[in-house]
Amino acid sequence: MKIYVTKNKDEMNQKAAELMLERIRKNPSTTLGLATGGTPEATYEYLVEDFQKQGTSYEHITTYNLDEYVGLSKDNPNSYHAYMQEHLFQHINIPLENTHIPNGLAEDLDTECDRYDTHIHGHGGIDLQLLGIGENGHIGFNEPGTSFGSRTHVVELAESTREANARFFDSIEAVPTHAITMGIQTILKAREIMLLISGERKRDALHRLLHGGISEDFPASALKDHPNLTVITDEDAL
Ligand code: F6R
Repeated sequence: MKIYVTKNKDEMNQKAAELMLERIRKNPSTTLGLATGGTPEATYEYLVEDFQKQGTSYEHITTYNLDEYVGLSKDNPNSYHAYMQEHLFQHINIPLENTHIPNGLAEDLDTECDRYDTHIHGHGGIDLQLLGIGENGHIGFNEPGTSFGSRTHVVELAESTREANARFFDSIEAVPTHAITMGIQTILKAREIMLLISGERKRDALHRLLHGGISEDFPASALKDHPNLTVITDEDAL
């Protein structure tokens, strides 16, 4: 595990964007795994800024998002489809057909999960997976207790996760109860993983990641066995 400690959230995001851009410039056909949420918003801002100033091209980049809520349409502003459009895709030259996000409106959600996992595999897997972390150690929406052998699947969101995400919705009742998420095994197959951890609220999670054992009670601990993991944290989370 490689760790970078940055002064604040902005520097953390800048560092993440810098490392992502290094990979993209080295391999313009990189396959990226992407996360949503509050943590990586400014990472995407830095990528957009670089695109506007340096013109780094995304023409041959492919992306797979970690997760999507069940029951929200693509144009619902709280869907992760809308998040990715707003924060990244509409600002860069990535062909939309190269971007993949689970379909939370699929009629048969289990078939959609299989399709998603098979698609990632068929494409040759993910080169670099960007991750945030939940206060309870979730990665993607893999809540404590999820099998480390899990593939993309439907999850019932933990109450604490719905409460944490309620800030993006009008009320907690509006937060979906279920989501589709890449499984832990799906995430671990990425050739490189970059985990961003920011803020006081994530202190326990970071401490447990660094000093605790590996257990399904704490999903992020699965990452400790990954051969190419970079953690970028800010001082508030330390
Ligand atoms: C988002 C995701 C989640 C978030 C985590 C932290 O795609 O999969 O695991 O990374 O819930 O969320 P924030 O960044 O909002 O604290």
